[in-house]
Amino acid sequence: MFKNFMSWIEYRMPFMEKMNLHVLQYPAPKNFNFWYFFGSLAMLVLVNQILTGIWLTMNFVPTAEGAFASVEYIMRDVDYGWLLRYMHSTGASAFFVVVYLHMLRGMMYGSYQKPRELLWIFGMLIFLVLMAEAFMGYLLPWGQMSFWGAQVIISIFGVIPVIGDDLTLWIRGDYVISGATLNRFFALHVIALPLVLVVLVFLHIIALHEVGSNNPDGIDVKRPNDGQKIEDNVSDKFTFHEYFTKGGKKIIVDAIPFHPYYTVKDIVGVVGFLFIFCWVIFFAPEGGGFFLEPPNFEPANPMKTPDHIAPVWYFTPFYAILRAVPDQLFGAIFMFLAILFLALLPWLDRCPVRSVRYRSTLHKLNLANFVISFVILGILGVLPATPTYTLLAQIFSFTYFAYFGLLWFYSKNEKTKPLPVRLS
Ligand code: HEM
Repeated sequence: MFKNFMSWIEYRMPFMEKMNLHVLQYPAPKNFNFWYFFGSLAMLVLVNQILTGIWLTMNFVPTAEGAFASVEYIMRDVDYGWLLRYMHSTGASAFFVVVYLHMLRGMMYGSYQKPRELLWIFGMLIFLVLMAEAFMGYLLPWGQMSFWGAQVIISIFGVIPVIGDDLTLWIRGDYVISGATLNRFFALHVIALPLVLVVLVFLHIIALHEVGSNNPDGIDVKRPNDGQKIEDNVSDKFTFHEYFTKGGKKIIVDAIPFHPYYTVKDIVGVVGFLFIFCWVIFFAPEGGGFFLEPPNFEPANPMKTPDHIAPVWYFTPFYAILRAVPDQLFGAIFMFLAILFLALLPWLDRCPVRSVRYRSTLHKLNLANFVISFVILGILGVLPATPTYTLLAQIFSFTYFAYFGLLWFYSKNEKTKPLPVRLS
């Protein structure tokens, strides 16, 4: 009966066919390593954020008068409310940890290069929406840092010539940050942006599955004997069903079906992740003041500025670049460029070899320079803007941008190592 029921469904909506295509039988290169955990972990965190968010919304009051108290109510009186809230607040930070590592993997193995440019662009759009989502969520508990952090970030839009003032007014929905701002941020945070995120993640995966996954070697999976690349052979585009066997003959080597190989492998990643995630939730939910900042345990007070305003840690690399530039408008422009250059990586990197494994020492050093600059800028972004720290922020903003300039310069004629014929 079950079989009949399933074929009844399948005839009308080929669910299993799509599942096979995109999950169970998806041909994944056989050499995925630790770095390939972060895509599935990002999906896990996305689901966690949506589910815990729905339950938080049931008791949250999106008004300037009620928001702070409703969060306290969730923490103290709602059954498991504390757990829901900490899963959500820790999830926000975990999201950025996972996504930053996911992006770094793409940079290491050249996963943004042809033919995966569109996949990378969808990733960058996800990153932008994620930042907007996190920023708006942080205003909701209506604490001191919610209020003053939003004040700083919204004022960045005010430096745009001609339209700046009107734009900030439009964003706030008031002359100051008020209940009107809170209410619209709530609407965007709980429904509009999550919807956009889910759609973008869907497109991200579709774009990935059209061209296939890259891998730590950065070379394509091969068909036996002829050594042709899959995407070179468009006229003979075979369906996924035929991917592994055609007439009983194995036609792709170096790829394995996603299930059970990577479903099992990803579970290892999930368990490792959950150990750390649960440890933070149960033993350090404030994340040492980085996940939930101390001033946010005080209700928002427009009459009292906190001693030191710093955005949450995941914004601080970009915030440090903003502060490093003395002119406000140019600071905002450089901050924007810091993100734009990441999006342009597929076109800035002109080297035909993808993976860092087979690229020049100069490229390895340059990538290390990028990571170090990003981390140090992140640290400087939480520290007060003293003259010494500002100078350091200027130096590391320079090295951050130098990564992109140098990459463009040397990648055209880079001396690379010979590529292996088959995946290692
Ligand atoms: C909500 C956030 C995101 C989710 C849920 C997500 C999900 C995924 C998944 C499941 C994969 C396939 C598995 C893997 O390769 O790890 C993947 C691949 C990829 N993602 Fe994302 N992603 C997200 C954000 C991003 C961002 C921000 C970027 C970069 C701007 C990005 C760039 C890539 C690239 C280049 C690949 C292909 C990697 C390869 O084949 O080597 N993703 N993503």
